[in-house]
Amino acid sequence: MKPQQKDRRETNPALGHRKLKLGTFQTNLDSGCVMSDLDGRLELTWPNTVTLAQLADAMDFEALVPVARWRGFGGATDPQGPGFETYTWAAGIAGATKNSGVISTSHVALNHPIIAAKQCTVIDHISGGRFTLNIVNGWNYPEMDMFGTAMLGHEERYACADEWVTIVKRLWTQDEKFDFDGKYYRIRGGYLQPKPIQSPHPVIMNAGASERGRHFACQHCDLVFTNIRSHDLATHTAHIGAYHTLAREAYGREVKVWSNATVIQAETEKEARDFYHYYVHEKGDWVAARNVIDTMAAEMNKRDYPEAQRKAMSEMMISGWGGFPLIGTKEQVVDGLLALSKIGLDGLLLSFPRYIEDMRRFRDVTYPLVKQVGLRDEV
Ligand SMILES: Cc1cc2nc3c(=O)[nH]c(=O)nc-3n(C[C@H](O)[C@H](O)[C@H](O)COP(=O)(O)O)c2cc1C
Repeated sequence: MKPQQKDRRETNPALGHRKLKLGTFQTNLDSGCVMSDLDGRLELTWPNTVTLAQLADAMDFEALVPVARWRGFGGATDPQGPGFETYTWAAGIAGATKNSGVISTSHVALNHPIIAAKQCTVIDHISGGRFTLNIVNGWNYPEMDMFGTAMLGHEERYACADEWVTIVKRLWTQDEKFDFDGKYYRIRGGYLQPKPIQSPHPVIMNAGASERGRHFACQHCDLVFTNIRSHDLATHTAHIGAYHTLAREAYGREVKVWSNATVIQAETEKEARDFYHYYVHEKGDWVAARNVIDTMAAEMNKRDYPEAQRKAMSEMMISGWGGFPLIGTKEQVVDGLLALSKIGLDGLLLSFPRYIEDMRRFRDVTYPLVKQVGLRDEV
């Protein structure tokens, strides 16, 4: 380890010991996680995104996760159209926070691995070792078309990502210059100094959902993401366990499994459900949501979304970009968090329909209870 480097378990809160780690999701994009003409949804400005980061920082949230998005989804509100690029966002957010882990999300196809490794290193230095790299392959082909970059087939995307992450890790960890001859990249005299703060290298996350994606995540990454879509807790316990088994048995590694949830909270359960109905069914941008689902379901993404399911999936997108809905009173929200911890999740990214107002209420009303039930204890 070089003198300026530190064991990443000491610097990166995402590897900390709290029973349930918490984060925010998509605070770098207009509308945040909702697709709705809801008043008070996130309006993307630098002061607003910093306000959310500092709210999270004050609660010691472990991960502030931005989404790499290059254009919106149309409809009446064009959700996620205006957005801050994730590396520059993370650099600014690192400077504006003291405690939280800061993430940058990187599309493999759009960022050369040498540039990516270097940018991550700078953010790791700015943040004092709180940086995590989220590697994504992309699925949203209209935004790739904007670059004139044809998306690779699904298997090839992951083959390319294998080479990409191998190069990034070598740059972060290896002092000697190296050559790399792959199918997708050719590196001559690969060199990177200074090294990141985190030793052996910054934390890496991935959210591959396919079988190939799960293998990629378990082979190369430290934090893996999965969606929790139903209340069938036994199924999810097994699903999360399967990540640990795959990582251990196929790759001799340990991974942490995270997911995301949407907090829809009010004084009474009825009020919370009425509010959900209002912003999803009365104000929801169903055209934009359907654009998301139809794009995800394109043949090239190798997913099978039957027509009958697409309305329910659109609703999940409108309510919180696929996050598990936690609807009800503060006690019900905390019960939901307890249940999600019990099925084996190490961490949870939260989002809120009226992001700033709702997150302030979460801090004042809900977070004390989250601590009281032990979810933020060190274990
Ligand atoms: C927490 C989380 C963050 C993600 N961030 C992005 C992102 O920023 N950009 C993107 O194109 N895809 C993002 N995705 C999508 C996934 O990276 C991945 O493309 C998708 O799950 C499909 O995986 P598969 O190709 O293995 O089926 C994210 C998914 C999750 C759950």
